[in-house]
Amino acid sequence: MKEDKFKELETERLLLRKINDKDARMLFDNIYNNFDWYKFYYQLPFHSFEEYQQLVFNYKNWYANGNHFRWGIVEKSSGEMIGLIQIHSKDELNNNCKIGYIISYQYNKKEYAREAVKEMIHFAFNVIGYHRIDAEIVEENVDSIKLAESLGMHLESTKQESYKIENQYYNQKVYTLLKK
Ligand SMILES: CC(C)(COP(=O)(O)OP(=O)(O)OC[C@H]1O[C@@H](n2cnc3c(N)ncnc32)[C@H](O)[C@@H]1OP(=O)(O)O)[C@@H](O)C(=O)NCCC(=O)NCCS
Repeated sequence: MKEDKFKELETERLLLRKINDKDARMLFDNIYNNFDWYKFYYQLPFHSFEEYQQLVFNYKNWYANGNHFRWGIVEKSSGEMIGLIQIHSKDELNNNCKIGYIISYQYNKKEYAREAVKEMIHFAFNVIGYHRIDAEIVEENVDSIKLAESLGMHLESTKQESYKIENQYYNQKVYTLLKK
């Protein structure tokens, strides 16, 4: 059996844990019923709960690989799963990765994503041992740019027309953090 490097994480207000089949309903109701909210995080719309549920069913196979780092963000006070964060595009040869994050539109303006991402970055650098972390952010996504900058990420470059939603292309800013 492969060693599972995934770890549950905890912050003052949040618990970050694996997502299971039962979380699909909550995540759909909190995030994935609103394409306009999540389009800069995931560019394909889900047309029904069942369609989204199918994706969540796949997560357990991905976790079984032992190096799949996707956390559900649970608000401790309510027990609700209110967001997602993940480490993806892992480049083991060069020891870097990318991160993604989303919080429910019903729970924004509380800096919940910032709190979760800060903990995930600590895990990525100090537990997994990555040297470099990138966040690719659509230029129009002001709140995400603020989040990245508030965590000390630096604007490194802009990818022209690298993100496509339906028939429109968007530029992405590459924000980077190096291990100190
Ligand atoms: C980008 C995103 C993750 C940021 O979430 P977050 O870190 O929780 O950020 P918040 O919503 O708390 O912060 C946004 C604003 O609320 C403010 N805020 C935070 N706590 C507040 C409070 N208690 N009262 C009022 N305002 C507050 C922040 O200061 C910020 O305001 P500002 O724009 O005036 O500076 C979230 O907007 C999101 O999920 N967006 C959709 C998905 C997405 O785009 N993901 C990123 C893809 S790269």
